[in-house]
Amino acid sequence: MDSFVFEYPTKVYFGKGAAQTHLPGILAASGPRVMLAYGGGSIKKNGIYKELMGLLKSAGKTVTEFSGIMSNPTWAKVQEGTKLAREHEIDLVLAVGGGSVIDCCKVVCAQAVEDADLWELEMIQHKAPSKPSIPLGAVVTASGTGAEMNGGAVITNEEVKIKGGMFAAAPRFAILDPQYTMSLPASQVLSGAFDTLSHAMETYFGRSDRDNVSDAVAEAVMQSTISNMYTLLTDLHDYTARSNLMWTSAMAENGILKVGRLTDFECHQIEHQLGAYTDCNHGQGLAVIHPVYYRHICKDAAEKFARFARNVWGISGEGISEEETARAGVQALEDFIRACGLPTRLSQLHTRTEITPALLRQVADSTNLLQGGYRQLTHDEVYEILMECL
Ligand code: NZQ
Ligand code: ZN
Repeated sequence: MDSFVFEYPTKVYFGKGAAQTHLPGILAASGPRVMLAYGGGSIKKNGIYKELMGLLKSAGKTVTEFSGIMSNPTWAKVQEGTKLAREHEIDLVLAVGGGSVIDCCKVVCAQAVEDADLWELEMIQHKAPSKPSIPLGAVVTASGTGAEMNGGAVITNEEVKIKGGMFAAAPRFAILDPQYTMSLPASQVLSGAFDTLSHAMETYFGRSDRDNVSDAVAEAVMQSTISNMYTLLTDLHDYTARSNLMWTSAMAENGILKVGRLTDFECHQIEHQLGAYTDCNHGQGLAVIHPVYYRHICKDAAEKFARFARNVWGISGEGISEEETARAGVQALEDFIRACGLPTRLSQLHTRTEITPALLRQVADSTNLLQGGYRQLTHDEVYEILMECL
């Protein structure tokens, strides 16, 4: 293991009825003005809004609503939430939704107390916000991103066409009730779960010279995510599978898998820029790019990809070379993506713009190139990968 510092910022309340059981106590200890933040309205259809509003009213809170947070939240939406939080002198933000609502609120909580523009501060000056942010709580209704247990937020700045990761407020607490995810459509359940698998893979395929306990934990997270996704293909509402996926989602992005090693996350960088240009679904974009990207870098880490094939996909590798075993693992990943009904080509994504070679060139040229993976890509190679995804 390499040296590391590890700290948990978030207290997690997990299980059926977690909001009813724990929120009254949490609210009793927080200030009077609460911002209830949510997305396009799913929480009004599935009863979560009513339940939470009831708890907030019983606790005597003054509630300000911040609604309409879109998937792939924008910097403009962050400004809207910040204005509300300042005007109403909010004491606690309750973010109710998936990664998009939680991420938007993370930055709102940090920006509301900062004079400096956080996009400028973080993305241009490469500095971190320094003031203690407004306390944030996350009520997860769509799992997959793991946003509820970390301080990172992914925001799209439409003016400059960058979808970038920012450091903002980590939730002080997270309510994880698997029942809250039951109304999610199958496509979102599976794309969210694939995002979890992607986080574990992006960490596993980061550079690590020595055997590392984090890799063994990542293998368990990957195996569990895959087998529970298979369960959902036959029974979308299986509670055990939903609850396991809710926790593997948090596990893959709460920092545990990343201790003592570098991470790759180049596939995420490519997908984020694809999202900046097309507004595609995050997990679906990853599903298209991953196998193509891995075929590009497989040779550079044949031993690790062969271990992935053996330990995650159960490929024995008997009678074939290490490189062939490595490639068989990537093929198994692609077969799994297809079996889940996730997209395998960019043309299958729902996008607001037509995906053309010219657009992919812009995506490739604006993709952040990271150094934690087994090979550092060039912008031209990102373009090649994207063209192979068409
Ligand atoms: O907006 P509403 O009406 O609530 O509908 C949402 C949205 O359309 C719906 N939904 C959520 N809970 C539901 C539900 N529908 C029915 N029943 C429920 N219980 O689901 C749709 C997708 O929600 P969204 O939050 O956009 O999805 P997800 O959780 O996949 O979040 C994606 C965002 O998170 C970022 C992604 O880039 C993307 O912007 N990520 C955040 C990360 C982090 N902070 O750690 C890491 C990830 O890699 C990722 O980049
Ligand atoms: Zn992700």
